[in-house]
Amino acid sequence: MRAIRAEDRDRIAAFLVERWYDRVVMLDGRAIDAASLPGFVELGDGGILGLVTLLDGVSESEIVTLDAVNAFTGLGTRLVEKAAERAADLRLSRLVVRTTNDNLDALRFYQRRGFRLHRLVPGAIDEERRTKPSIPLIGRYGIPVRDELTLVRDVG
Ligand SMILES: CC(C)(COP(=O)(O)OP(=O)(O)OC[C@H]1O[C@@H](n2cnc3c(N)ncnc32)[C@H](O)[C@@H]1OP(=O)(O)O)[C@@H](O)C(=O)NCCC(=O)NCCS
Repeated sequence: MRAIRAEDRDRIAAFLVERWYDRVVMLDGRAIDAASLPGFVELGDGGILGLVTLLDGVSESEIVTLDAVNAFTGLGTRLVEKAAERAADLRLSRLVVRTTNDNLDALRFYQRRGFRLHRLVPGAIDEERRTKPSIPLIGRYGIPVRDELTLVRDVG
């Protein structure tokens, strides 16, 4: 695993489109190009195996995307720990992540890794879907995708 480099950008953009249908992520109405962000990547023979992209604020670093292609091998955990180390190195105090109400696996995953529930925005995804109709109506486990949850982990 290593820090993202400039030469990775095109490959990261294609990976994000494959995984999330778009390289642009909406955060509180702001369009963020996740392919241009710093972060960490795990590369294998076939391409990207894991990726975390990060957006730094004044006192926090936000996980914008997190992906492990082959789930349950520990890679997701290693990516989160690298993000937490980096935030601490930058003297930021918190690592933040958002997920959707249907992503029960991610809610479990993050809470088991020191994150606490911080904010619920009911209907945030319904609102986002008005400008981005490609967002599916039904998500994981057949749950309607409607709301955004934010989780926070102290790293200071
Ligand atoms: C969420 C994600 C990044 C986690 O990465 P990962 O490499 O699978 O994570 P890890 O291997 O480090 O940990 C996986 C967890 O699943 C558990 N697990 C292992 N085998 C499992 C199985 N067959 N079924 C269910 N859970 C299993 C592990 O025990 C671990 O849980 P723990 O909290 O009990 O330790 C990854 O699954 C992913 O890319 N998901 C799709 C994208 C996504 O939802 N991203 C987050 C959105 S913000």
